[in-house]
Amino acid sequence: MTAHAPPPIEAAVPLARREDILTARKTVRAAARALRLGAVDEARVVTIVSELAKNACVHAGAGEVRVGTRHLVDRDQILIEVEDAGPGFSDVSAALAVGFSTNGGQGLGLPAVNRLAKSLTIDTRPGKTLVAALFETDRA
Ligand SMILES: Nc1ncnc2c1ncn2[C@@H]1O[C@H](COP(=O)(O)OP(=O)(O)OP(=O)(O)O)[C@@H](O)[C@H]1O
Ligand SMILES: [Mg+2]
Repeated sequence: MTAHAPPPIEAAVPLARREDILTARKTVRAAARALRLGAVDEARVVTIVSELAKNACVHAGAGEVRVGTRHLVDRDQILIEVEDAGPGFSDVSAALAVGFSTNGGQGLGLPAVNRLAKSLTIDTRPGKTLVAALFETDRA
């Protein structure tokens, strides 16, 4: 940590209605700006939150988005966790493949998140699903 390190941000956004996805997007955008990420990385983390929040709404009906930031000496991290109490994934590895969708969607959301995030973990069972994406950026 440097003397001017931004304080860590921890925020939680409940997802009850589709409009709450917008609040989640604004929350992660503010976190990216607090870390002084560039426009490209900001767009990446907003995409991650959008797709995971949309999945909680579409596939589980509701959920919660949590955003946490860490400013390290050589890199910044944003941890995005989306939890829901829906039915759970039917097949996690299939869900990461482009074009796989159980509800007639395009099956593009999770593959995109998987590409953008440094790591993506899916812990799922009926009644409790936690999808965690760690975004990391190098500081030149
Ligand atoms: N929170 C979740 N709970 C249960 N299943 C999920 C959840 N999120 C994703 N899935 C499963 O993973 C599949 C793939 O997700 P992905 O986001 O890639 O595609 P999609 O949501 O179906 O369509 P798109 O995101 O392109 O609109 C979903 O169709 C669904 O079966
Ligand atoms: Mg999706």
